[in-house]
Amino acid sequence: MEEITTVGVIGAGQMGNGIAHVFALAGFKICLHDVDEGRIQAGIDDIDGNMERQISRGHITEDEKTRAMDAITAAPTLESLKDCDLVIEAATENIEVKKELFRKLSAILKPDSLIATNTSSISITALAAVTDRPEKFVGLHFMNPVPVMKLVEVIRGIATSNATFEHCRKLIERLEKKMAVSEDFPGFIVNRILMPMINEAIYTLYEGVGTVEAIDNGMRLGANHPMGPLRLADFIGLDTCLAIMQVLYEGLADSKYRPCPLLVKYVEAGWLGKKTGRGFYDYSGDEPVATR
Ligand SMILES: NC(=O)c1ccc[n+]([C@@H]2O[C@H](COP(=O)([O-])OP(=O)(O)OC[C@H]3O[C@@H](n4cnc5c(N)ncnc54)[C@H](O)[C@@H]3O)[C@@H](O)[C@H]2O)c1
Repeated sequence: MEEITTVGVIGAGQMGNGIAHVFALAGFKICLHDVDEGRIQAGIDDIDGNMERQISRGHITEDEKTRAMDAITAAPTLESLKDCDLVIEAATENIEVKKELFRKLSAILKPDSLIATNTSSISITALAAVTDRPEKFVGLHFMNPVPVMKLVEVIRGIATSNATFEHCRKLIERLEKKMAVSEDFPGFIVNRILMPMINEAIYTLYEGVGTVEAIDNGMRLGANHPMGPLRLADFIGLDTCLAIMQVLYEGLADSKYRPCPLLVKYVEAGWLGKKTGRGFYDYSGDEPVATR
C-alpha cells in the first residue's frame, strides 16, 4: 500500500459518522456503508449538521465543509467498498456481526488494502484471524464524539505488521489526533478503566445509594468529570456498554466485571440511551430529564 486516499466506513451510526466526518475533512475520499440503507443518508445528514455547527463555532470554513461533504459518497453494498485502500468497521459491537463482515470484505477488497476495526473491546487478533490478511488488520479505536475527541487507541493484533502500524501512525497525524498504543486485551486501555466505573455507577443507582442526578452531580462536581457516568453511558449507548462489560467479564474471567442487572434490563427494554430517546435520562424534551 503506497498511499491511502479512499477510506470505506462500515456502520453509519454515531461512530461511523464521526469517523467519516474527520477523514473527509482531512482530505480523504469516503465511502459510507450500512446494512440499513436508510441509516446511510441519515448519517450523511448528521455529518452535514455537525459540520454546520463547526462552521458556526469558527472551527471550519464553508469551503472546507463543501469539499468534505463532496468527498462522502453512499455505499449501498459492501461490494461498493472494493476500491478502498482502507476500510474502518464501526458496526454494532457484536463479534459474530463483525466476523461475518470481515469474511465478506476479505473477498471484496484489493489484496493491499488495510482493514481496521473501531471495536471498543473485542479481540483484534480474533477478528483479524477470519480475514485473509491478519498482518494488514488493526484496531483503531476512535472516541466519541470523533470530531471533538483527540485520542485514537491503536491496538495491534498478534499478526499486525510494522508497516500497517506505520500507516496508522501517519493517518492519525494527518487527522491531527494523538495515539495511545494498547496491547490486545479485553477493553484495551480506555474501556478497561472507564467501563467498570460506569458499571459501578449503575450499581450505585440499582442499589438505591443515590438518584441519577445525585450520582452524576457527585462525579461531575466532586471528581471534576466533564459529564456524569450515567449521562456518559447514555451517550455511548447502553447496548454498547453492556457488550463491553460482557467482553471484560468473559475475557478476564473475573466477577468484578459482571454487568449490572439494571443495565441488562434497560437494554432488554430497548432503552439504549440518547440514540433511542431514553436511557437513564429521557431525551424527548428540550433538556434531558433524569428518570430515577
Ligand atoms: N458509542 C461509543 O461511544 C463508541 C466509542 C468508541 C467505539 N465504539 C464502537 O464503535 C462501533 C459502533 O458503535 P456506535 O456507537 O456507532 O453504534 P450505533 O448503534 O450508533 O451504530 C451501529 C451501526 O452499525 C450498523 N450495522 C450493524 N450491523 C451491520 C452490518 N452487518 N453491516 C453494516 N452495518 C451494520 C447499524 O445499522 C448501525 O447503523 C461499536 O463497535 C462500538 O463498540 C463506540
